[in-house]
Amino acid sequence: MLPGHRVVVTELGEDPADALERTVVLEPQPPPDPAALGPRDVIVEVRSAQVNWVDLIMASGQYQHLVQPPYTPGLEYAGVVAWAGPEAAARCAIGDEVLVDGLLAGPRSLGAYQRWGGLASYAVAPAEAILPIPRGLSMDQACNLLGNYETAYHVLIARGRLAAGETVLVLGASGATGLAAVHVARLIGATVIATGRSADKNAIVAAEGAHHVIDTSAPGAPGDGAPFRSFKDEVKALTGGRGVDVVYDGVGGPISVEAMRCARFGARYLIAGWAATPTVARGKGGRGAPNVNTLPTNLMMMKSLDVLGCPAAISVAMDPSIRPPRLAQVLAWAEAGAIRPRVARTWPLASFREAMRAKWRGDLVGGCVVHPAVARGE
Ligand SMILES: NC(=O)c1ccc[n+]([C@@H]2O[C@H](COP(=O)([O-])OP(=O)(O)OC[C@H]3O[C@@H](n4cnc5c(N)ncnc54)[C@H](OP(=O)(O)O)[C@@H]3O)[C@@H](O)[C@H]2O)c1
Repeated sequence: MLPGHRVVVTELGEDPADALERTVVLEPQPPPDPAALGPRDVIVEVRSAQVNWVDLIMASGQYQHLVQPPYTPGLEYAGVVAWAGPEAAARCAIGDEVLVDGLLAGPRSLGAYQRWGGLASYAVAPAEAILPIPRGLSMDQACNLLGNYETAYHVLIARGRLAAGETVLVLGASGATGLAAVHVARLIGATVIATGRSADKNAIVAAEGAHHVIDTSAPGAPGDGAPFRSFKDEVKALTGGRGVDVVYDGVGGPISVEAMRCARFGARYLIAGWAATPTVARGKGGRGAPNVNTLPTNLMMMKSLDVLGCPAAISVAMDPSIRPPRLAQVLAWAEAGAIRPRVARTWPLASFREAMRAKWRGDLVGGCVVHPAVARGE
């Protein structure tokens, strides 16, 4: 193994933009020393690492799961096994192309492997986190599979009970998890109405399977998140005046109230995230949610809504039994070619800041991928 490079979060920023400018750096990485690792450990030479929204808010400690610096970001990654401890032999061998489970290794995992993220030439993961890459998926696609599609599964199926023939409104459909929700909802046989703030991105979301797309951007205020065009009449028209059966809300903030108005009586309102209000928690890992999102109880009551929080990772920590069927379903869909993560753009590791900025600005539809600078000098 030859030397490489890794991205390191050296301290938590005030917010993701501050972290990106000041505290997230690229540094040389010596290859991990097998003599210092355990018998179940695996060294992965990373080829493709996803840049996730969560990587950004984690770098300022504004994500619910706090990782103490220094650590390498990159929740999910794929690569080639460079070394495997003797007890990992049943799981993988040197040279295998593998996908690493981001709930069992890397910054979103609990415990010893948190500092080994994918934005590096090498990462160390325990044997149980090593998975074969589903047939037909590239490494770029593979590192966008589990978190995004397991989230879509958890929100729409486990919590939302979305059924064939129902109509779902997906907010933030151009995002990595939003696009996965579009794919999964379509796979189930639901009708998908997607919202987004840009005609160009909406066109891609439609090509990816949304039956209807609605541009919510207000004239003169593109992309700043606060003002948006009212769209409840459009949604009502698309649903015969009834409203949607299910809302998938990954955006939060003021648009959630409009989305609630689009729901039918007795609908399920699924809270997946709050991309529009990422700073609900204090920066630098402070807690206390000073800018907490609010939703109107009068609409919930009079529309008899089921409003459901849908945390995909926390739910597994609370009840590990929900993970195996979820993981098996997502892997089976991928094996069968039923889902294919969209990769919007790739960058070399040296350009990690540009990749993270593009993710932060919301430039991309679907996955954002970095190719670590492997020792061969790629
Ligand atoms: N429930 C879970 O377990 C779970 C798992 C993973 C992520 N999440 C959460 O889900 C949310 C989305 O994650 P993601 O990975 O899909 O993020 P992403 O790839 O960055 O996408 C977020 C999307 O939200 C839309 N959006 C609307 N208003 C926005 C605003 N003011 N600022 C930024 N984006 C805005 C954007 O679409 P347009 O520009 O087209 O409007 C953007 O494509 C985040 O809050 C994340 O923390 C939850």
